[in-house]
Amino acid sequence: MPRTAYLAPEGFVAELEHELGPVERVHERLLIAEGPPREAAWAQNVWLDPRLIEIASIGDAARELRAIQRNWAVYAPVLHRRAMLIQARLPVVSAKPLVFGEPVPGAPLGSWTLLDTNTVLAAPHCTSAFPNGEVRFVEDRTGPPSRAYLKLWEALTVIGQRPAPGDVCVDLGSSPGGWTWVLARLGARVISLDKAPLASEVARLPGIDYRQVSAFGLDPAAVGPVDWLFSDIVCYPARLLGLVERWLASGLCRNFVCSVKFQGETDHGTAAKFAAIPGSRLRHLFHNKHELTWIKLK
Ligand SMILES: C[S@@+](CC[C@H](N)C(=O)[O-])C[C@H]1O[C@@H](n2cnc3c(N)ncnc32)[C@H](O)[C@@H]1O
Repeated sequence: MPRTAYLAPEGFVAELEHELGPVERVHERLLIAEGPPREAAWAQNVWLDPRLIEIASIGDAARELRAIQRNWAVYAPVLHRRAMLIQARLPVVSAKPLVFGEPVPGAPLGSWTLLDTNTVLAAPHCTSAFPNGEVRFVEDRTGPPSRAYLKLWEALTVIGQRPAPGDVCVDLGSSPGGWTWVLARLGARVISLDKAPLASEVARLPGIDYRQVSAFGLDPAAVGPVDWLFSDIVCYPARLLGLVERWLASGLCRNFVCSVKFQGETDHGTAAKFAAIPGSRLRHLFHNKHELTWIKLK
């Protein structure tokens, strides 16, 4: 029977459990389920075709893993010391943070964990190229006015696409301006909307048309064709869905990257409606908090 293991982001095991339904085993944040991989918005990494390996010793575990492939990331919520002793006997995998814009690591990266003292669960392939799905960047501590830019860097890195110079981007809920800063630095033309102002150092960048209005009053027809629509608005998911549906119906936007933010209880029903929009995907990015990122590309 094939299995798949899904790693929940820290703090969101319940969300992943809700999404997957009954699973074979819950190993802290790792949910092990029967069957082939399924869509799972709340999985930070998915372990494909994991296998159980009985091990007699630390050295034995390292030998078994090395015999499968070179690069391994460990998930060690239990038996941490033993797991680290095994990992120390495996080839070193570079843990250098990524410079935004550089290609994601291309080498296969497996994941493994100790289920108990003598049992390893190991998956030679995972959906994320990053250890445990943790996409870490060399940060810019002077340019952007908030840390929200990391979320957009991650989204653009994961999809392997980004606005080209001159592309028209709408950035909804843009204050204080982290996303607008990312887009302006890519050379895009940014229509940046928020009820609150942009930080002055962002507002000064070339190519930004800032409007201090509500994003919900914006009529797509009045804006015209746009290459990308970004939204990081704090609002109820159902309200964002209505806005997205208006833009989809207008046919005026090619690509979408939107944060679906939850307030209080996770609104699984509306999340499922986002996930069901044809040609789109819904993911919890490493830099997401209690929110998911909905992406639709042309
Ligand atoms: C998380 S912040 C956005 C951070 C931003 N992406 C950045 O990188 O700096 C959410 C923003 O949504 C804005 N917002 C809330 N309701 C809005 C509305 N109706 N129209 C436009 N912006 C709204 C808030 O003013 C707030 O600045």
